[in-house]
Amino acid sequence: MSDLKSEITKRRTFAIISHPDAGKTTITEKFLLYGGAIQLAGTVKGKKNTRHAVSDWMEIEKQRGISVTSSVLQFEYGGHCINILDTPGHQDFSEDTYRTLMAADSAIMVIDASKGVEAQTRKLFKVCSMRGIPIFTFINKMDLESRDPYDLLDELEKELGIDTYAVNWPIGCGKEFKGVYDRQKNHIMAFEAASVSGTKEAKVTIYQPDDPKLEPMVGERLWETLQDDIELLGGAGEEFDMDRVHAGTLSPVFFGSALTNFGVEPFLQYFLEMTPPPTARMSKGEIIDPFDEHFSAFVFKIQANMNKAHRDRVAFMRICSGKFEKGMDVYHVQAGKKMQLAQPQQIMAQDRAIIDEAYAGDIIGVFDPGIFSIGDTVCTPGFDCKYSGIPTFAPEVFCRIRQKDTMKRKQFIKGMEQIAQEGAIQIFQEPHTGMEEVIVGVVGVLQLEVLEYRLKNEYRVDIIMENLPYQHLRWIENEDFQPDELKITSDSKIVQDYRGRYLLLFTSMWNLNWALDKNEGLQLSEFGRAE
Ligand code: G4P
Repeated sequence: MSDLKSEITKRRTFAIISHPDAGKTTITEKFLLYGGAIQLAGTVKGKKNTRHAVSDWMEIEKQRGISVTSSVLQFEYGGHCINILDTPGHQDFSEDTYRTLMAADSAIMVIDASKGVEAQTRKLFKVCSMRGIPIFTFINKMDLESRDPYDLLDELEKELGIDTYAVNWPIGCGKEFKGVYDRQKNHIMAFEAASVSGTKEAKVTIYQPDDPKLEPMVGERLWETLQDDIELLGGAGEEFDMDRVHAGTLSPVFFGSALTNFGVEPFLQYFLEMTPPPTARMSKGEIIDPFDEHFSAFVFKIQANMNKAHRDRVAFMRICSGKFEKGMDVYHVQAGKKMQLAQPQQIMAQDRAIIDEAYAGDIIGVFDPGIFSIGDTVCTPGFDCKYSGIPTFAPEVFCRIRQKDTMKRKQFIKGMEQIAQEGAIQIFQEPHTGMEEVIVGVVGVLQLEVLEYRLKNEYRVDIIMENLPYQHLRWIENEDFQPDELKITSDSKIVQDYRGRYLLLFTSMWNLNWALDKNEGLQLSEFGRAE
């Protein structure tokens, strides 16, 4: 196999999605541990410390010298090169979180076994399912009291609309948690809670199903339940179908306990076997093979102010085909210009890993002097390629913004437009109004604080912010839409985005459904189509 082919084949690029507190950080940390990227040497560090070290990847990079950008964690495990994309927790939840999922080839969804599907899981899942990427479910915290496993699977199917296939099945939960039955390997992984204080690692023993020691250890009642479960799953459950897993319509489900390190490594091994290497992407209606020798990538995230002193921006790109080499010429499709991405790498190297080469599946961050937009394509000059853009995701928090000092109109407009161009906020206007007053929509509330701070500090503009009661935004898809003929409730609003597309703002789903009811043929979309 050529170098290019073997490098790309071993890559696995995915995101871990979850509601805060379900255990994403703990699982990530265990993955790193198996990969040798961090060594906890059997002693679990101070809780807060451990958590900090993992969630703050820049810190890890400094400490361990591994290759990390602020949004990707790369390490090797079992012959694979793994890229985990960071999807931040609720405080930092923003449109970037959604965009990051555009760069992933699959997702791991972590569910708290006592809570089931939660709000943030639902939102992130929606984006993954829109893309049709494979989704693997890890039902965590089985060492605590949890909900009935059938209930949990039922909820995944009903709430998220995805079929499930349990690869393993839990035996009890909480104090009675005895382990899992691995249906693929037909063996039992027994769980023994750690008795030595100071370590949370469970002892794991593998038993064949006919081992006479099993029944007394599990206890008669749970043993009988397990026999029934095995029979039931075999008869009534979904068939395992890898094509459906890859199409994102069947989610392999695993039960375990990340904190006690039970079931996490087998999960990682199954996952790496089942999840695809870098997948082909669409360019102008055609498929670009990741193994194509031409380099190509698209920008999925732009982060401003990476270096406070220089007010710089970093553009994060997902490589879709070929190999990137420092110093190579690339073509920026949207700008129609040849350029080099080498210089940026050196600037980045001052506070992060130097990347001399990278392959399809990898993410690179390059210095952006204001030339890149989200969705842009860069590729080997002469390679005919332009990736489909990234959709705009409907914000959920809205406010009306005005400048305090009307003399600062120019700065206000410039600031708002630039920040919107970076994709941190979306701006809307009521038809026939000027830019003096705009409606801002964000995915996470933190973005509003950032906006206020940046307008004040970078553009010297003070603003007045008025919260608006809207909760749902929808793009109007009808080509022949006539705003004058629209019937909506008095507390709904029609607005336009910067491209002049019409959108509707609703305070409730009830109002949204009312509009659908009263306007025959009205087509509303939760995602703004990419250009
Ligand atoms: P997140 O990144 O999804 O937000 O979750 P995180 O891993 O930080 O886990 C949230 C809390 O749940 C942490 O406890 C963590 O130790 C605990 N946890 C994770 N997996 C398991 C598990 O399998 N079993 C049990 N019993 N607990 C688990 P915390 O006390 O809130 O945080 P910390 O003080 O340990 O950092």
